[in-house]
Amino acid sequence: MIRSVVRGVGTALPRRLMKNAEFEELVDTSDEWIVQRTGITQRYIASEDETTASLGEAAARAALDNAGLTPADIDLIILATSTPNNTFPATAVEIQERLGIHHGFAFDMQAVCSGFVYAVTSADAHLRTGLARRALVIGSETFSRILDWTDRTTCVLFGDGAGAIVLEATESEGTPADRGIIAASLRSDGAHKEKLFVDGGPSTTGTVGHLRMEGKEVFKHAVGMITDVVVDALDKGGIGADDLDWFVPHQANKRIIDASAKKLGIDADKVVVTVHLHGNTSAASVPLALGAAVADGRIKQGDLVLLEAMGGGFTWGAVLLRW
Ligand code: ACO
Repeated sequence: MIRSVVRGVGTALPRRLMKNAEFEELVDTSDEWIVQRTGITQRYIASEDETTASLGEAAARAALDNAGLTPADIDLIILATSTPNNTFPATAVEIQERLGIHHGFAFDMQAVCSGFVYAVTSADAHLRTGLARRALVIGSETFSRILDWTDRTTCVLFGDGAGAIVLEATESEGTPADRGIIAASLRSDGAHKEKLFVDGGPSTTGTVGHLRMEGKEVFKHAVGMITDVVVDALDKGGIGADDLDWFVPHQANKRIIDASAKKLGIDADKVVVTVHLHGNTSAASVPLALGAAVADGRIKQGDLVLLEAMGGGFTWGAVLLRW
């Protein structure tokens, strides 16, 4: 059988670092409130010349370097983003052009914070059916462009950035001991649209709009939804939570991460946390966390890794893989 094996990972962050204290000049908030409620201490904010495409390209190039591959080796690009450069064409195609790739195909995936998990699952399906051989799966966001910078309940939470992995179709015995994506679980439910959405769009207001969130409502659903898909992916893979080497959750809020890991019975020292450094970077958060844990030597080849995310829609999902 074919397994989709991770060959490399890379990340990119905007130049500008913004600490919590800077928000005290903008809205009625404090470093203490932000840290206590979310765990976030800083985030990176894209300058005018930094876009979802440029950050995505930089992360893609870093992932290719890490894999020892070149753009010519890639025949599929899936970009998870809710902040594309243009309404169309897909920013994935712009990244394809920036990388000088003129073969294969590229498209954007829109599942808000779950976008990377959805994109990995989609790339895996494309590789296993033989539609492509090597995929770049990128999460890249410039949420700073859709924030209402006067709304203290949302503007302090998000940041910009990008992360990418290279997935390669590889012959495999298909046992849990083999490398590659083992199982996934995806869900969505539009009944929750009003709890987390952007109040603009091409077909409604003709504007880009701003992010609106009922944070408490999202929080209320997050842990249950996350743990449901994680358990489903583990069951499908025939793996117990105890067997996991690393839990790489969506980085929205440290309290949600801690509560999810606790409910799943995953030790805190197996949880990769970067929310304090990057804030919530939506579809970029999981690959940014992966990149950090690979770079510092925590995640190594052969490790059993569980990715999960939950976000606007609601959408939620989990991917179980052997690195
Ligand atoms: N600074 C100071 N006070 C604030 C701020 C702020 N930045 N923001 C809100 N407050 C106030 C509120 O107005 C409220 O005041 P009140 O009691 O006088 O009404 C008080 O703080 C408490 O607010 P809550 O909303 O109850 O705070 P909570 O503990 O729920 O934390 C938070 C808010 C951090 C947003 C939390 O609910 C959360 O993390 N929610 C989930 C976010 C998430 O996971 N999103 C999913 C992914 S995002 C995506 O898909 C794009």
